[in-house]
Amino acid sequence: MRMVDIIQKKRDGYSLTTEEINYMISGFTSDAIPDYQMSAFLMAVYFKGMDIQETTELTMAMVNSGEVMDLSGINGIKVDKHSTGGVGDKTSLIVGPLVAASGVPVAKMSGRGLGHTGGTIDKLEAIAGFHVELSQPQFVEQVNKHKIAIVSQTGNLTPADKKLYALRDVTATVNSIPLIASSVMSKKIASGADAIVLDVKVGSGAFMKTHAEARELAKIMVQIGKGLNKKTVAIITDMNQPLGYEVGNANEVKEAIEVLSGKGEAGLVQVCLTIAAYMTIAGGIYADFNQAYLAMSGILQNGEALGKFKEFIKTQGGRVVVVEHPDLLPQAKNHVELKAELAGYLQSMAAESVGTAAMLLGAGRQTKDEPIDYAAGITLKKKVGDEVQKGDVLAVLHSNRDINLEICQILRNALVIGPDKPEILPVIYDVIE
Ligand code: URA
Repeated sequence: MRMVDIIQKKRDGYSLTTEEINYMISGFTSDAIPDYQMSAFLMAVYFKGMDIQETTELTMAMVNSGEVMDLSGINGIKVDKHSTGGVGDKTSLIVGPLVAASGVPVAKMSGRGLGHTGGTIDKLEAIAGFHVELSQPQFVEQVNKHKIAIVSQTGNLTPADKKLYALRDVTATVNSIPLIASSVMSKKIASGADAIVLDVKVGSGAFMKTHAEARELAKIMVQIGKGLNKKTVAIITDMNQPLGYEVGNANEVKEAIEVLSGKGEAGLVQVCLTIAAYMTIAGGIYADFNQAYLAMSGILQNGEALGKFKEFIKTQGGRVVVVEHPDLLPQAKNHVELKAELAGYLQSMAAESVGTAAMLLGAGRQTKDEPIDYAAGITLKKKVGDEVQKGDVLAVLHSNRDINLEICQILRNALVIGPDKPEILPVIYDVIE
């Protein structure tokens, strides 16, 4: 078999066989196939696509490129969740303890942020002492005992995806539905959960900019999951503006604590309750969505979810006092208020630009190994549809670096004020089962 023939076949729009896909992924993982050939292949997929069978085979080839977690030692149906990436997306910090408090085991592997999107692991590390690495036996033991563990993906899980993703990032081939679907699903399958709830983001801050694309991605991922005997549900949620009011790390933990205390922004709460409800249904605790949603809302209001969050932070070594006193989380030295230059309504908020501004403040990485400033980020004071008076504070920027005009300008350009009240977009668009 030769890689050049596989590239040509895909370039001409034909479907690849299982043997061809396995040959290519194992060759690429072992460095036998060079980046330039894989780059050409990725671009061919970008234009010609892959059918569901090829996408499933690609998923499995990436799963088999490394270790697969064995979670059989955990009692009950293990449910995982995954977001396709957003700005201000702190849902895992809320949904994890919420679902665990209901009795469903949450054995979750999460990633770090890259580019304009944040990552759960970076947010958790904003809590002093919190450790994100557990051995497999520790992980299993913790989930059995406390019903929740969230750890960083180990280096041996889906190494093919790691290498491919890095190449896609620099060859303009991230935004391909079969490549995203196989990348996400390979990690979820290798993580060993029995059931998966996917949060597919759509809008200006998401990889999927249109509803048609988001639905297609959701359908393919659900099909892959079901084909591999995993209960899989995808919820399509809005990412035309950041989720909630905080974008960063420590400030997102603070907002998550607010929601876990029964407060918080309505849209963020709704997304969390919806994801949690589907996770508990997949976990076999509830049969019906309304019943599950109400139960999750009750657990949020009665303090059980916050109690589980404290237990989870303590178990993984974090400084649990921050839950009662969030002001003890890292605080930035510098703060700049961005004020409205005219009156009207906030028409739109380019989520990707807000994410980019937060990253430039130090909340994210521009390169893989750049350290994070956990105190850096943005607090939004207005959301789309809010009335604004001239001089009102629209957002506050936080950083330990100098907050320069360029960053303020990126944020200002992202927040568009106009005379008419805009249509308010829903936060949940669709559920694909
Ligand atoms: N998230 C992933 O894990 N992979 C992608 O390709 C895109 C988003």
